[in-house]
Amino acid sequence: MRAPTATFADKPTLAGELVLLRPFEDGDLPAMAAAIADPEVGRLTGSVHSTAVLGQPHDPEVLRRWYSTRNEQDDRLDLAVVDRRTGECVGEVVLNEWEPENLACNFRILLGPAGRGRGLGTEATRLVVDHAHDALGLHRVGLEVYAFNPRARRAYEKAGFVVEGVRRDALRFDGAFVDAVVMSRLSTDPR
Ligand SMILES: CC(C)(COP(=O)(O)OP(=O)(O)OC[C@H]1O[C@@H](n2cnc3c(N)ncnc32)[C@H](O)[C@@H]1OP(=O)(O)O)[C@@H](O)C(=O)NCCC(=O)NCCS
Repeated sequence: MRAPTATFADKPTLAGELVLLRPFEDGDLPAMAAAIADPEVGRLTGSVHSTAVLGQPHDPEVLRRWYSTRNEQDDRLDLAVVDRRTGECVGEVVLNEWEPENLACNFRILLGPAGRGRGLGTEATRLVVDHAHDALGLHRVGLEVYAFNPRARRAYEKAGFVVEGVRRDALRFDGAFVDAVVMSRLSTDPR
């Protein structure tokens, strides 16, 4: 494992071929508000529990406060995912739930419709998880993906995540139970 060269207080810009991951800017707010209100994002991230309430906008003041304070956080990393083709913010990647003693954290990602299905999610995942292992010196990055989201699972597998178990019936959506698949990437796993 590499010695850390950065902390969670550092907010890097990470460049790939398709995406740039960078600290949030004020101008990203409309794109993030739209991405979070996207019905597919609401369902696939487990933030919404029924079709009836999919697509409802969040309180704009709560969102403004959230995104304007992401760069001050010293125990997590929230970065905008920018599509290099257009220069637009299309979503976010997050390293959170840091466990310093275990050299571990959680990963999550969401992309709005404009960013999906072109390889951006896989590259963004790879870039920020490489940062977790190589710059932050973390050994384990974990995540959960719902069984009804094979696209996300495939993107995570391509980025080196390995399935380690299932939390059965972890989510209830429209009255039906859905499993959550637990995955992780260790610093010692092949990239
Ligand atoms: C999940 C997410 C980050 C993936 O990013 P993406 O840029 O859309 O995905 P990519 O294009 O990098 O890769 C998707 C892969 O899944 C495959 N795929 C797409 N739909 C699929 C399906 N129904 N079943 C299996 N594989 C599928 C694609 O073919 C591609 O694999 P390939 O390159 O081998 O062909 C993005 O779609 C997203 O944010 N979705 C909405 C919110 C969400 O699901 N967040 C994750 C919650 S755990």
